[in-house]
Amino acid sequence: MLGRLMALLVHQGVFGKSEDGYQLTPASELLLTDGSNLGAYVRLFTQSQSIKDWDRLSEVFKDNSNYTLFEKKHDGKKAWEILKEIPERGNMFNEAMASQSNLIMRGLVSKCSNIFDGLSSLVDVGGGTGTAVKIIAEAFPGLKCTLFDLPHVVEKALKSDSFDVIGGDMFEKIPPADAMFLKKVLHDWADEDCVRILKRCKEALESSKHGGKVIVVDIVIDFENNDTKATETSLLYDISMMSIHGSKERNKQEWHEIILGAGYSGYKIYPVQLGVNSVIELYP
Ligand SMILES: C[S@@+](CC[C@H](N)C(=O)[O-])C[C@H]1O[C@@H](n2cnc3c(N)ncnc32)[C@H](O)[C@@H]1O
Repeated sequence: MLGRLMALLVHQGVFGKSEDGYQLTPASELLLTDGSNLGAYVRLFTQSQSIKDWDRLSEVFKDNSNYTLFEKKHDGKKAWEILKEIPERGNMFNEAMASQSNLIMRGLVSKCSNIFDGLSSLVDVGGGTGTAVKIIAEAFPGLKCTLFDLPHVVEKALKSDSFDVIGGDMFEKIPPADAMFLKKVLHDWADEDCVRILKRCKEALESSKHGGKVIVVDIVIDFENNDTKATETSLLYDISMMSIHGSKERNKQEWHEIILGAGYSGYKIYPVQLGVNSVIELYP
């Protein structure tokens, strides 16, 4: 039976086969759970419970409640509440985000290092347990970096001398710095919440001598992109965000509206792809 399963997986490119046996391919290397690959991320989205949830997707179109698919399954509770209440789920989520950060951030600091030029301090807002901010701090040793996330999340932060750690709520107050970094945060929130978060970021930049900026790493849906697989993946993420948080992935126009809606004077979308993610710089 194993030989038959492996024949399929070799045919699909998941494994290679030679006289010596089976080998990993670039696709299966990505699935390793060694911390520098996407194994933990893939496991989060493919655990049997997540897959089963999709069976109920049609329900959200049929009733008039304002609950997302996730909230319907969890007595109206939001994902962030469940991740706090059930530590195993919180840990699995944090590990998944860390594994994705490892891959994306290595690309960001090598392909877009100029984004960090001239900055003396940076706050990673909603930075999880610190994988991304650690990579930034180690790549730019002169930059004073701070991890900022909910108190119960930063309690589990990586231990490192390279960055400070502050627990809090980004809807209330964000610690001041020259740059606010938000990776995979705004796609978790509806437009009006994004405007509130971006306003708090703008306030946190007020003391910056350099004028300050916000650096966003998130999807920009682009139907004109020739990479149809990337567009399909972005749209799948959009349905996933809709089902979990009632939020969305955004196209250029939707980003334009929330950025200007939060009072920023301008922004720039970098022509760089980090997986399906783009980099957007916002100017106060
Ligand atoms: C999708 S995760 C992204 C984590 C990290 N930026 C990354 O890319 O690996 C969103 C993060 O936002 C944090 N978060 C949610 N609500 C928050 C709030 N009110 N204040 C601060 N952080 C919050 C979550 O705890 C979580 O770590």
